[in-house]
Amino acid sequence: MLRLNLLEETRSEKSVVNVYSNQETASKSVAKRIATLIQKKQSIGKKTVLGLATGATPIYVYLELIRLHKEEGLSFKDVVTFNLDEYYPMQPDAKQSYVSFMNTNLFDHIDIDRENIHIPNGTLNENEVAEFCLAYERKITSYGGLDLQILGIGRTGHIGFNEPGSAPNSSTRLVMLSDITRRDALRDFGDKKDVPTKAITMGVGTIFKAKQIILMAWNKKKASIIKKAVEGELSSEVPATFLQLSENVEFVLDEDAASELTHLMVLKKSK
Ligand code: GLP
Repeated sequence: MLRLNLLEETRSEKSVVNVYSNQETASKSVAKRIATLIQKKQSIGKKTVLGLATGATPIYVYLELIRLHKEEGLSFKDVVTFNLDEYYPMQPDAKQSYVSFMNTNLFDHIDIDRENIHIPNGTLNENEVAEFCLAYERKITSYGGLDLQILGIGRTGHIGFNEPGSAPNSSTRLVMLSDITRRDALRDFGDKKDVPTKAITMGVGTIFKAKQIILMAWNKKKASIIKKAVEGELSSEVPATFLQLSENVEFVLDEDAASELTHLMVLKKSK
């Protein structure tokens, strides 16, 4: 694994970037960190508050957490979770819902108390959404804030569903999805007309308040957006660039996703 503190000529020297040879080893290391955090807090009688993400990116982390639960006795009894986002409108039992995703990929296989699971509600009337979003924020605060937020990244540079144009201090809210994001969602929905046009998402500001943030990305198709997120000018056009301002963020990448980073290119050339 390479630990890179980025070159001075980039704007991102504060961001920690860890590059692994493949997503399995990277995911195992993230899962191990989550497990250690849970156990450390359990040992002092505290709950762990996790911010969770959907998409293909965190799947191996969830698989490893399930393995740690089944084979090594990791318990989620003292874990509280808040998911980043949900399509709107969306029924929880629809197969494309993030509720179904989380149940299938994690919650159905661990001993978490269902009352401790929070996912934005895609079934509300539009006039109920603003109050729901405020309550979501209040609930996170009432648990003492997010201990650890895991993130993927969309091709537009979105985190959660904070699309280009999102403000750095944005909070949980209803957003419109960009055309690129809706096209990427076709793999789950099949037909563009079935892809929701909106979503409820934690804001950039909500994510930013987490005590630790881990953004993961795998594969070549994420390389150019990762370069922008890690090295690019801060811009609401690429909301992930705001993470550069956080002292608590770490980018966990495989070699393909990291392949366009200046630092890696310099290292490769000097070998
Ligand atoms: C969706 C989710 C994001 C996720 C992104 C990337 O937009 N709302 O949280 O990071 O997809 O998905 P994937 O991990 O499948 O590349």
